[in-house]
Amino acid sequence: MNANSLIAAMKELVGNANVVDTPSDMEPHLIDWRKRHSGKAACIVFPGTTAQVSAVLAFCNDNAVKVFPQGGNTSVCGGSVPDSSGASVLLNMRKMNRIIELNPRNNSMTVEAGCVLADIQAAALEVDRLFPLTLGAEGSCQIGGNIATNAGGTNVLRFGNTRDLILGVEVVLADGRIWNGLRSLRKNNSGYDLKNLFIGSEGTLGVVTAATLKLFPRPHAIATAMLGVETVSAAVDEGLKLQAAFPGELVGLELISQSEFDISLRHAANTRNPFQHTPNWTVLVELAAATGTSESLADRLTEALNDSFSNGAVQDAVIASNEQQRGELWRIRHHVTEANGREGMGLTHDIAVPTYRIPDFVERAGRALAEHYPTAVPVIVGHMGDGNLHYIAMFTHEYWASVEDKAAVQLKLSHLLYDISAEMGGTFSAEHGIGSLHVAEMEMYKDAAEVALMREFKQLLDPRNTMNPGRVLPNAAVAD
Ligand code: FAD
Ligand code: LAC
Ligand code: ZN
Repeated sequence: MNANSLIAAMKELVGNANVVDTPSDMEPHLIDWRKRHSGKAACIVFPGTTAQVSAVLAFCNDNAVKVFPQGGNTSVCGGSVPDSSGASVLLNMRKMNRIIELNPRNNSMTVEAGCVLADIQAAALEVDRLFPLTLGAEGSCQIGGNIATNAGGTNVLRFGNTRDLILGVEVVLADGRIWNGLRSLRKNNSGYDLKNLFIGSEGTLGVVTAATLKLFPRPHAIATAMLGVETVSAAVDEGLKLQAAFPGELVGLELISQSEFDISLRHAANTRNPFQHTPNWTVLVELAAATGTSESLADRLTEALNDSFSNGAVQDAVIASNEQQRGELWRIRHHVTEANGREGMGLTHDIAVPTYRIPDFVERAGRALAEHYPTAVPVIVGHMGDGNLHYIAMFTHEYWASVEDKAAVQLKLSHLLYDISAEMGGTFSAEHGIGSLHVAEMEMYKDAAEVALMREFKQLLDPRNTMNPGRVLPNAAVAD
C-alpha cells in the first residue's frame, strides 16, 4: 500500500489531529531516548481509545502494513522505534493516559496504557497506596511499555517484576479483536492465564491498551543507606545478611562499581559524593515498612550494620536522615544511564546470574575485557538482589570513533560476556527485553524448543506478522 493511501486511511480512522506524517514532527519519535537506534515510518498514529487501536490494527492487518507500538520510547534495546522500511505505522500510545479507576479498598488501579509510570505512582500515593514499580526512566516510560517489556527496576527484590504487579490487561490483537481481561482479582484459575503471554511480549502479539495494577500499603517508614565495601563478594554477603535481618522490609539492594559511581558524580546534575572517597563498590540499600517511623527503621539498620563495621565487612556507610538526602543518594543511582552517555560509548549488557555467582561473573568478565579490549573500562551497576548486573564496557568517544567495524566489536564483546553468563546458568537479557538488538541471541542462548513454541504462539496470534516484526523472534513466518 502506498504511503499516501495509508496516511489517508489512518486519518479517516482516528482523525486528522491524531496522525502526523511530516519529517520534523515524526523525528523525535523515530530515534530512541539514548539516540542509539532509529527507524522510519509512513506516519505516526496517536490513538485516543481502544476502539481506535482496534480499527488501526484491523486495517493494517488486512493490508499487510507493519505496526510498531511505542510507549515512552525509553527502550534500551532498540524495541521502541520502527524498522528502516518507512512504510509502516508507528502507533504511539501517549494520548491514552487516563486513570480509569483507582480503588484503594481493593488495592487496585485500572489505567490506560499510555499513563506515565511516575503519574501512576503519584496517583497511588494520593490515596495512601504504593505502586512499587520504580526505574530511572519513570518520568517518561509508560505502563504499557513496562508491561510489554516486563520491566524490572529497583524494587524487584521485594515486589517482583511488572508481571507480579498486574491483575489484568486489555489487549488489542493483531487482527483488531479486543480482549478485555481487566479483572481486579487476586485469584482466578479459570483456564489459561493469557495475560502472562502478553506481559513481556514486547508488542509482538498485540497492543496493551489498559491494565489493572496491584497496589500496596504506602510505606510510612523508609531507610536508605549507601555502604562502601572492598570486594563484590563482601557486597553480596552483606546483601544476604540484610535480607535475613529485614525480611519483608528490604526493598532494594543495588550495586555500583567505583567507576560507575564516579561517572554519575561527574555527569549527572545535582549530585555530590556522600563519601569522603568513592569506595571500590557501593551497595545502595533501601528498607520500607508500612508502620513505625523512618528514624526507628534507620536505627535498626545502623544496629545491623555495626557488626559488619566491626568485622571489617563494611568500610564506610551513609544513612539518609531525611527525604532530601534519600533523594540525593538515589539520584546517583538513577542517573547512571544519562551519565554514561556523556562519559563515552558504553556497550551495555543486561545479564543475570544466580546471585551467589555475581562475584565470579564480575571476575571472569573483567578478565575477558582486559584480555580482548584493554582500552575499555568495566563499569558496573545493577540490581544485586536480583542477580542482575548491567555490565558496561566503556570506551572513550575518541577511541570508539576510530573503531572501523563497530558491529563486530559489539558482537564479539557481548558473546564473550553472554557465554560466561550462560555457563553460570544465567541470561543475556534480565529485564530490558530483546527488542531488535538481541534477536540473534534468542537462537544462540535459548532452548530450541522454547523458541519454536514462541514462534507457534506468534503464528497463532499474528499470522501475517504485522505486529512489531523483527523484534524478539528471528524470522517470524508470514502466513498468507
Ligand atoms: P518503549 O521503550 O516505548 O517500548 C518498549 C517496547 O514495548 C517496544 O517493543 C514497544 O513496541 C513495546 N510497547 C510499548 N508500549 C506498548 C503497548 N502499549 N502495547 C504493546 N507493546 C508496547 N528497564 C528496566 O527493566 N529496569 C530499569 O531499571 C530500567 N531503567 C532504565 C533507566 C533509564 C534511564 C532508561 C532510559 C531506561 C531504563 N529501562 C529500564 C528500560 C525502559 O525504561 C523499560 O524497558 C520500559 O519498560 C520501557 O517503557 P516505554 O514506555 O518507554 O516503552
Ligand atoms: C538501570 C537500567 C539501565 O538499572 O536498567 O539503571
Ligand atoms: Zn536496571
